[in-house]
Amino acid sequence: MARRKPGEGQTALVTGASAGIGVDLAECFAKDGYDLILAARSESALGEVANRLGSAYGVKTHAIAQDLGAYGGGSALAKAIEQRGLSVDVLVNNAGYGHAGALTSSDMATQLGMIDLNVRALVELTYIYWDRMLANKRGGVLNVASTAAFQPGPLMANYYASKAYVLSFSEAMWEEARGTGVRVSCLCPGPTESKFRERAGTGKTRLAQTSKVMGSMPVARMGYEGWKRNKRVVVTGFNNKMIAGLGKYLPRETLLKTVRNIQSPAT
Ligand SMILES: NC(=O)c1ccc[n+]([C@@H]2O[C@H](COP(=O)([O-])OP(=O)(O)OC[C@H]3O[C@@H](n4cnc5c(N)ncnc54)[C@H](OP(=O)(O)O)[C@@H]3O)[C@@H](O)[C@H]2O)c1
Repeated sequence: MARRKPGEGQTALVTGASAGIGVDLAECFAKDGYDLILAARSESALGEVANRLGSAYGVKTHAIAQDLGAYGGGSALAKAIEQRGLSVDVLVNNAGYGHAGALTSSDMATQLGMIDLNVRALVELTYIYWDRMLANKRGGVLNVASTAAFQPGPLMANYYASKAYVLSFSEAMWEEARGTGVRVSCLCPGPTESKFRERAGTGKTRLAQTSKVMGSMPVARMGYEGWKRNKRVVVTGFNNKMIAGLGKYLPRETLLKTVRNIQSPAT
């Protein structure tokens, strides 16, 4: 008799599953037998991912288009999920975006929208599904932050701060879940192949010109494997671990100057 896959009978909701890391995170869960609910704004891209993963892994897939940056976007998504008679065992809060440059180099909507998506929707969805996870004593949350979470980020201040929130929130929830059977991990990638750079406009920074870019599947796999082991924080790759650790050793002002330098345009 074939062995049961660990995710059989459970459903993972993956946000930002129309492109980049989210697509590969969804694939990791599907491979282990989880049914999928995929959410993002682009309906057709979501549909393609849902069809591909459904036929490749024989899991049930559902694509729900929702702007999670909109006020109440998380609750609207949860309502759509409930109306379809679905439930969520694992929540993967992956949707997010950044914007490179000084605070006022982009309009206010871009800056505040980053908090709405990267932080507000993530907390909203966690709030909605948390008690049920605890009651079921299984499932959990995999949040996607960044190596940006480990220090303030002059010239990308709001994005770095939003990811610091995600890291802090995730670690606290990990502790709250201790001994309950609910797993919480925070995935902290460094530069990764995806559409992120295009939207964030980070391509011209010194960091982008000098850093090694990882593939999105290895990053997703590390996140998924880390979550399965209830690893509190998963920083992807040796270089990124070094960068994430800098803040512990450098004096604060040196750290701020260093980050400002790497976030500056390469000349
Ligand atoms: N790539 C990197 O270098 C890097 C490094 C560190 C951390 N990260 C983090 O990794 C996560 C995934 O990013 P990525 O690199 O895979 O970027 P990506 O290729 O741009 O994918 C972002 C995903 O989020 C979705 N999304 C964006 N705005 C949304 C909204 N308002 N409502 C719902 N969904 C929305 C996008 O879909 P739609 O456009 O269809 O809505 C897409 O599926 C983000 O949290 C990002 O901050 C990325």
